[in-house]
Amino acid sequence: VVVVLDCGSQYTQLIARRIRELKVYSEILPWDASLEEIRSKNPKGIIISGSPKSILLPGSPMISKELLELGIPVLGICYGMQLLSHILGGQVGRVGLAEYGRACIEIQGEGEGLFKGLPKQFNVWMSHGDTVVKLPPKARVLAKSEGGLIAAMAVEGKQIFGLQFHPEVVHTEHGVEILKNFVFDICQCEPSWNLGDWVDEQIKEIARTVGDGKVISAVSGGVDSTVAAVLTKRAIGDNLHCVFVNNGLLRLNEPEGVLSVYRDKLDLNVHYVDASDKFLAALKGITDPEEKRKAVGRTFIEVFEEEAEKFGDAQWLLQGTLYPDVIESGHKGKGASVIKTHHNVGGLPEKMKFKLLEPLKDLFKDEVRAIGAILGVPRSILRRHPFPGPGLSVRCLGEVTREKLDLLRRADAIFIEELDLAGFYEKVWQAFCVLLPVRSVGVMGDERTYGYTIALRAVESLDGMTADWTYLNRELLDKVARRICNEVHGINRVVLDVTSKPPATIEWE
Ligand code: XMP
Repeated sequence: VVVVLDCGSQYTQLIARRIRELKVYSEILPWDASLEEIRSKNPKGIIISGSPKSILLPGSPMISKELLELGIPVLGICYGMQLLSHILGGQVGRVGLAEYGRACIEIQGEGEGLFKGLPKQFNVWMSHGDTVVKLPPKARVLAKSEGGLIAAMAVEGKQIFGLQFHPEVVHTEHGVEILKNFVFDICQCEPSWNLGDWVDEQIKEIARTVGDGKVISAVSGGVDSTVAAVLTKRAIGDNLHCVFVNNGLLRLNEPEGVLSVYRDKLDLNVHYVDASDKFLAALKGITDPEEKRKAVGRTFIEVFEEEAEKFGDAQWLLQGTLYPDVIESGHKGKGASVIKTHHNVGGLPEKMKFKLLEPLKDLFKDEVRAIGAILGVPRSILRRHPFPGPGLSVRCLGEVTREKLDLLRRADAIFIEELDLAGFYEKVWQAFCVLLPVRSVGVMGDERTYGYTIALRAVESLDGMTADWTYLNRELLDKVARRICNEVHGINRVVLDVTSKPPATIEWE
C-alpha cells in the first residue's frame, strides 16, 4: 500500500486514484494520523499531498520528523515538498513569483530516479505561491522551472523526494511516468492490486463497522446508490432496507423500470413510496433554482423520515456519495465555495439520528461503474447517465408544473432513444432535455402555434467537475428536433446548448 497523507488539497483523491490505476493499493490518511496508525498500514511508500495552507503561517499541516526516519520512501507534492524542506532544515518563502497553470521544467543532471526515462524538458501543472528557496542539507535540485524556481528535489542517501508541481493532474506531461517511477522503482511495489480486492475488503469493512446493526438507504436507480446498496447487501444481507421514493420528478417510465431491476435482478429489499403529490405541492410557486433544491431536499427528508420510522431500529444511513459530490458541495478543499448544493450530501445526516455509511466516498464515477460490474449490477443501470437528486425540477426552468414535466419527460425520452440508436449514449457523460419557460411562435399545417422550447444538452466529462459540449451530428439533431415537435404537442422549437463547464454548469439550474 502507498499511504497518501492528506493536507487538504483538492487533488488528494486524484493522487490515490492514479496510484490505484497503477494497480497498487493506495489509502488516504489525514495529515495528523499518528505514527503508529501510518506504520500499521505497512506502507511501501508515503506521499504527502498539497494544501491550501501556507507552511509560513502557524497552524498549517505538519508531520513528525520520525516519519522520515522509518526508511520508507516519501514523496512530497507541492505543499508536501515545502513541508519536507521545512522539517529537514531548508527554507520556504515567497519570492514574488507565483506559478499557476502550465510551466516548463528542465531536469538538472542525469534524469534518474523519479525522472528516469523522461525528456530533459517538459510541461507540468503548477499551483503555488510559496517556494522552497533554500534546500535542506544533503538535498539537491532535480529540476528547475523556467522562472528558475526549484521544481523537484531529492535528499541524498534518503529516499525522500519533493515535486513542486502536480504529477497527478492530466495537464502534467509524463505525470504518470513520474508516479510509476516512484511507486515501482523507488518503493518497489508490485502491480497486483485490483478493484476486486477493493470490493472484498470493503464488504469485510462494512460488515465489521455495522455488525448486527440495521442500515437504511434511499435508492434512486442511479449507479451510485445502487452500487452502494448491492455492496452493503453483500456485507449484511437482510439487515439492509432500501427505500425508493418516487418524487414525481423522474424520467419517463423510470419508477417502474428501476423497481423491476431492484426486485427481480438484484434481490434488494425495496420499499416503494409514491410521494409525487407532496413534492409537486412543495415546488408550487418556486422559480429560484436553489429554492427548488431546498424544497425537494426538505420534502425528501420528510418522506424519508416517515418511512424510516417503519425501521425504527435502524442506526445507519447508507449513502452513495462519491468524491466529486463531496468537493462540489464545499466540504473539501477548505473554503471551496458551494457551486450547487447537492442534496445527497447535505441535509439528511444532521437532521436525522443516523450514523452515516458512505463506502464510495473516495471513488470516482468510472471506478464505481467498474465495481458495479464486479458486483453483477446490470448494464442497464451501470450505463445510466448521472441524474440530479432534484430530478427534472432543475430541468424544468421556472415554476414546475405537472403539465410542463409531462412535456419535458416525453421530449427527453425521444432524445435519449435517438441518441442511443445513433451510438452516442455511452460516449457522452450526460445528455438530457431542458424545458425553457419561453414560448415562441411556430406554424404547423396552416395553424399558428405558440409553444414551449426544448434545449438539448449533451456533454463529455470525466467527473462532472468540468465538461465540454458534445458535437452531435446533423442527422441525429435533425431527427430529434423533428420527432419532438411532431410527437410532443405543446413544443414547437428545439435549440442546442453549446456551452462548456465552466462557464456554464451542466444542468441549467
Ligand atoms: P452541474 O450542473 O453543477 O452538475 O455542472 C454537475 C453534476 O452534478 C449533477 N447535479 C446534481 N446532483 N443533486 C445531485 O445529486 C443536485 O442538486 C445536482 N445538481 C447537479 C449534474 O447532473 C452533473 O452530473
